[in-house]
Amino acid sequence: MGYFQVFLLLALIPGSTGLDNGLLRTPPMGWMAWERFRCDIDCRKDPTNCISEKLFRDMADRLSEDGWRELGYEYVMIDDCWMSMQRGSDGRLQPDPDRFPGGIANLARYIHDRGLKLGIYADMGSATCMGFPGTTLDKVELDAQTFASWGVDYLKFDGCHSNAIEQSIGYPLMSKALNWTGRPIAYSCSLPAYLGGLPPNVNYSYLGNICNLWRNYDDIEDSWASVKSILDWYSTNQDDLQPAAGPGHWNDPDMLIIGNFGLSLDQAQAQMALWAIMAAPLVMSNDLRTLSADARAILQNRVAIGINQDPRGIQGRRLLQELGHIEVYWRPLSHSANALVFLSLRQDMPYLYRNSLANLNFPAGSFEAYDVFSGKTLSGLTDHTIFTVSINPSGVVMCSAVGEANLPLRGSVDLKITHKKYSACSY
Ligand SMILES: *[C@@H]1O[C@H](CO)[C@@H](O)[C@H](O)[C@H]1NC(C)=O
Ligand SMILES: *[C@@H]1O[C@H](CO)[C@@H](O)[C@H](O)[C@H]1NC(C)=O
Repeated sequence: MGYFQVFLLLALIPGSTGLDNGLLRTPPMGWMAWERFRCDIDCRKDPTNCISEKLFRDMADRLSEDGWRELGYEYVMIDDCWMSMQRGSDGRLQPDPDRFPGGIANLARYIHDRGLKLGIYADMGSATCMGFPGTTLDKVELDAQTFASWGVDYLKFDGCHSNAIEQSIGYPLMSKALNWTGRPIAYSCSLPAYLGGLPPNVNYSYLGNICNLWRNYDDIEDSWASVKSILDWYSTNQDDLQPAAGPGHWNDPDMLIIGNFGLSLDQAQAQMALWAIMAAPLVMSNDLRTLSADARAILQNRVAIGINQDPRGIQGRRLLQELGHIEVYWRPLSHSANALVFLSLRQDMPYLYRNSLANLNFPAGSFEAYDVFSGKTLSGLTDHTIFTVSINPSGVVMCSAVGEANLPLRGSVDLKITHKKYSACSY
């Protein structure tokens, strides 16, 4: 299927004038079932963890009672495997009657009563990825109306079992259909991941007009290798991806797996820090009922969340890859603040990374820095101070710092020459 044909079809759909639903001015925050709970539908053998209304009520209880909602974690999101294997006699999608006996509208009320929002999942195609009823082109409008009538606040629209032409029609059509319902429903598009995630196959300006966020790349798995490969793909392609993000339209490198089995504490901090830098959705997929205190502390770190939710909505980028397997990431924030992450991809021991602000082409001056995870502050740092950060293997040091920055958001080749102002964390 040629890209050229797809583009011609896109051009036939009139009036793509921008997604104007007022939602997700900052990246969404919440909880989603998929990475941790997958398609576990055997409620007889596994009643606690199966995809059922109980699971989502449990998570809503935790979000509202354990301090998450106040920090911004507000969406409770159903992924695949919630449906009955058949549409109803009226043609509508319906939940599995044994696992969701109260229906989705009831679940939505339960979630809304707790000051939270409900996300649901559908698939542009003949079946969902796990084989439940898909949303073919003739069903797009009906499904949007069904979701709105239930009180759904967010739709993840996957793309299994459809071809590029169907997707090129179905994704913008769903955007319009959601709008026509009159209910503000955030719209997450899996489309770019199915097209390789990069121009010219994906037109990100166009996508920003029809979707609030989009999955660009592979599904996350419960491992550091998966986090690293996602981070590396986004950073390698940041010149294409970084400008696509902004208030109301975000890149989505997928869920936070902090609190599961695959990450050490340092790696968990690294995911939190780097997802904050990338202006990524902070959507956890873990078990909030059994989360460790350490994982909770990382996920509830107010400064990391504040960096992620910065109202300017500028996605950060990788600035440097040192030969010693240290990487430096940067994101400009409101109020002349900046976030910096020093990431170690080493496998030996805590690494003492030395640099000076002048060497990073900072302007002359003094700076104030705050270490996001240790809470230490440092003032009186000047551009010529040699600073040292101690970075654990597969860990990060994340800092926020006040001071003007004027680094280029595109093009990394001449970075060392062109950036003028900067601020850093130091000790
Ligand atoms: C639908 O789109 C119009 C025009 O873009 C916008 O003003 C309106 O707020 C949208 N409504 C919803 C519910 O998204
Ligand atoms: C990408 O989409 C935008 C907005 O719809 C459009 O103006 C532009 O021409 C498209 N670019 C390409 C290369 O197709």
